[in-house]
Amino acid sequence: MKTLKIGVLASGRGSNFQAIIDSIETGYIPARINLLITDNPNAFSIERAEKQGIESLVMLPKNYVSRDEYFSDIAAELRKRDVELVVLAGFMRIVGRTLIEAYPNRVMNIHPALLPSFPGLHGQKQANDYGVKISGCTVHFVDEGMDTGPIIIQAAVPGRDDDTEETLSERILKLEHKIFPEAIKLFAEGRIGMQGRKVVIRGAVFDDRPLISPPLGRDLQEGSEEKGPACDGL
Ligand code: GAR
Repeated sequence: MKTLKIGVLASGRGSNFQAIIDSIETGYIPARINLLITDNPNAFSIERAEKQGIESLVMLPKNYVSRDEYFSDIAAELRKRDVELVVLAGFMRIVGRTLIEAYPNRVMNIHPALLPSFPGLHGQKQANDYGVKISGCTVHFVDEGMDTGPIIIQAAVPGRDDDTEETLSERILKLEHKIFPEAIKLFAEGRIGMQGRKVVIRGAVFDDRPLISPPLGRDLQEGSEEKGPACDGL
């Protein structure tokens, strides 16, 4: 199978970037990462790239007169390295039109909530504050809206009564590290198609078992109704 050439954009610690590196290393994804671009000179992602022998560029928006110019320069750097798929691994900016036009349906983002709920920053905090009983993460193609592009894959986790932003984030992150490499693998294998705005995956086998949270009474463990955080009566 042909090797997909990837460019990664990341702003921070890069645990998703690492999960992608690891999935390539083990041969799960037939791809190579040709370039890391970051908007943050202190991003730990830079060290991860170095360790792996991946070229990295720090590109600062403040050096550009407009967002369009910034993202068209990013597109040019990616093109120079023959990048075919652009992966946003914790890139904390809204992508400009010029990059999306250069890579239509070829820019993927990971978001820590079940879109279209809780777009934008701090998806996990938004979900926890709202009190949703099921949350999760989403990989989607990027369009010009804020986290509005076609959805490729989602994974769900229960929202627990005793969750904090941190505990929920931790549970979601574990799933992010599974579904982001998976989405890239599907792309690399040429299994992703579009029907209007809907992404369809060739050869996917779906599991119809529901996730119910909290679980149905008959599925509760004995004694579990006595546990749980302090709360006000109704
Ligand atoms: C991840 O949780 C990712 O979903 C989120 O930032 C974190 C980056 O972590 N992205 C967004 O919120 C984008 N709107 P990482 O740097 O360890 O991969």
